[in-house]
Amino acid sequence: MDNKRVVVIEGEDASPEAMRPAVALIKTLDLPIDWLYPVVGLEAKEKFDTTFPDAARDMIDASDATFFGSTSGPSSQALFYLRWGKQTFANVRPCKYLPGYRSSLAHPEGVDFIILRENLEDMYIGIEGEIEDLAHLNLTSRTARTSLASMAPGKFAIKAITEKGSERVIRYAFELAKQRDGMKKVTVACKYNMLPTADGLFREIGNRIAAEYPDIEHETFIIDDFCYRMNANPHQFDVCVMPNLYGDIMSDGAAGLIGGLGLAPSGCYGDDYAYFESAHGTAPDIAGQNIINPTATLLSAVMMLEHLGFDEAGRRLHDAIAAVYAAGDVLTPDQGGSASTTDFCDAVAANVSSS
Ligand code: IPM
Ligand code: MG
Repeated sequence: MDNKRVVVIEGEDASPEAMRPAVALIKTLDLPIDWLYPVVGLEAKEKFDTTFPDAARDMIDASDATFFGSTSGPSSQALFYLRWGKQTFANVRPCKYLPGYRSSLAHPEGVDFIILRENLEDMYIGIEGEIEDLAHLNLTSRTARTSLASMAPGKFAIKAITEKGSERVIRYAFELAKQRDGMKKVTVACKYNMLPTADGLFREIGNRIAAEYPDIEHETFIIDDFCYRMNANPHQFDVCVMPNLYGDIMSDGAAGLIGGLGLAPSGCYGDDYAYFESAHGTAPDIAGQNIINPTATLLSAVMMLEHLGFDEAGRRLHDAIAAVYAAGDVLTPDQGGSASTTDFCDAVAANVSSS
């Protein structure tokens, strides 16, 4: 079998401090992986006057997956290519409690659900502008009952919910629920009361696809109600699918339930490509201190190893992370410990090699 090719983009601020020891740790698993490091971001800007040179794009195109850090801006062209260029429409963000996580819940045991975020459309199509420029369309506000033009000056942003985009992510949700152990339920969440046309379409497609999966429970909640339920009783959920912006917000909220953003991984899947990144940002406030919690990054790596077919290695890495939390004596400051990022990775490595 040919080696798998994994592109690594370390990102900015504290992100490389999580990515470097994570890659070093995966290398100890002795897997047939070639690691590729394209020049992107600030370094590429200095050398080639662009943050995302063609060579980086070609490297991604020739790879099996990308392992991505977090970006505060300079690597965002690379991130946009990984999303829109590679059409990675399904952003899977697991919210799974492991014993030892410093959760805010009284009874976090057993919390294990997925925020499945549509990754390419909704408010993220990137079309904004001057309200004045839409005046010629003669649009009327359904709520204020005034013309859009009369609201100028001001800005607009377009939210697009498409049939194809909704169908493929909702179908992905049902297929994911089918594979997962336990509950087998898909929850659709969106704002169909205030946005009966756009989010109404998302809801309706949910109903239509649910009819094809009689063995999987299906329910729909308005997104604010969903947010309440997720906080009040997260145990009730399995796979929760929603448009892009809601998924961005709810996935950070979900991370807060189990113990913080440092624990929240993600994998973004398309028909022919996938990339893996922690759900958190670049943590500029702690950059340079070697204290960023690498758990989200490592759990994203677990998802990547499974995707590449290295299930056994992924399981070993996952179990080693879980063992470090269960022991509880080598944890980073966000989890109440005093270990550094590299101490934590060393503890995981020790558990991997003894497994
Ligand atoms: C995320 C991040 C990104 C997003 C930013 C960095 C553009 O918040 O992956 O959740 O909004 O999608
Ligand atoms: Mg986000």
